[in-house]
Amino acid sequence: MNLEHILVIGGTGKTGRRVVEQIKKRGIEPRIGSRQASPCFDWDNKDTWVNALNGVERMYVTYYPDLAVPGAKEAIESLTYLAKELGVKKMVLLSGKGETEAEVCENIVSNSGIDYSIIRASWFNQNWSESFFLDPILSGEVALPMADVLIPFVDANDIAEVAVRVLLDDAYNGEIIEVTGPELITFRDIVKIIEKTSKRRLNFYDIKLEQYIDGMKKMQIPNDVVWLIEYLFSHVLTNPKNQLVVNDVERVLGRKAKSFLEYAQETAKTGVWN
Ligand SMILES: NC(=O)c1ccc[n+]([C@@H]2O[C@H](COP(=O)([O-])OP(=O)(O)OC[C@H]3O[C@@H](n4cnc5c(N)ncnc54)[C@H](OP(=O)(O)O)[C@@H]3O)[C@@H](O)[C@H]2O)c1
Repeated sequence: MNLEHILVIGGTGKTGRRVVEQIKKRGIEPRIGSRQASPCFDWDNKDTWVNALNGVERMYVTYYPDLAVPGAKEAIESLTYLAKELGVKKMVLLSGKGETEAEVCENIVSNSGIDYSIIRASWFNQNWSESFFLDPILSGEVALPMADVLIPFVDANDIAEVAVRVLLDDAYNGEIIEVTGPELITFRDIVKIIEKTSKRRLNFYDIKLEQYIDGMKKMQIPNDVVWLIEYLFSHVLTNPKNQLVVNDVERVLGRKAKSFLEYAQETAKTGVWN
């Protein structure tokens, strides 16, 4: 496949970066969709989109910050329309499990006439090492609501491996692939696992969602971020559709999905939690 024919939008992010690495291992140099790349891709500047998509045959799309936020639907609609015009043959969209708003975006892609696969992911393990749960771990004080809700946390490496497989293999065209980890796990369990693997003392506090939201506001976290976190906790985490283990990682990759313990053991060795 030609160097310029695969685009990874969000190619510097948690799954996109791993998708890029794995495509490169196959001897293909993908184009990275990022504000830092050349050509640049910026969701907030449509003028950048044509150059980024020009000549692309297949693309992996991760929207930032989330397909549920206002404006996401319109952005996915415009991008999909442009992709069709420019002759993109296949789109793989990263979506969120249990997110009604994300399903609207999935439908835009699946009704576009472009070949597609949808990857519906549950919450990523890497949120604890590369995203919003890292700071509380580093501070040693982890205060979270819904301490005992069961969540099938999934590893970003597994998502990326599935994404590369379905991006390059047309046998998965038209499929919705649900990626979860191999077990349901709670925040309380997770903090214990990180405490053990990182050999650090972590204090865990089971708090109310209102307290968590108030805390974010006091820290002057931007309103749109607070809105998104509240939405994710109150709608996605508690959605029964999200509290199920699905074996699609194993179906696509022919091996078991990575457990949270395996992720934590590997991550502790990197020193990111020290
Ligand atoms: N995190 C989870 O647990 C989870 C679970 C299920 C689904 N998802 C879905 O996964 C998607 C990505 O979420 P994530 O948390 O994993 O984030 P992420 O991919 O780690 O986000 C960072 C990426 O977004 C890019 N980006 C940020 N603002 C941009 C802009 N204005 N224009 C172009 N690129 C921009 C960054 O590129 P540059 O900074 O280099 O420009 C970077 O590549 C979301 O749609 C989310 O709904 C996430």
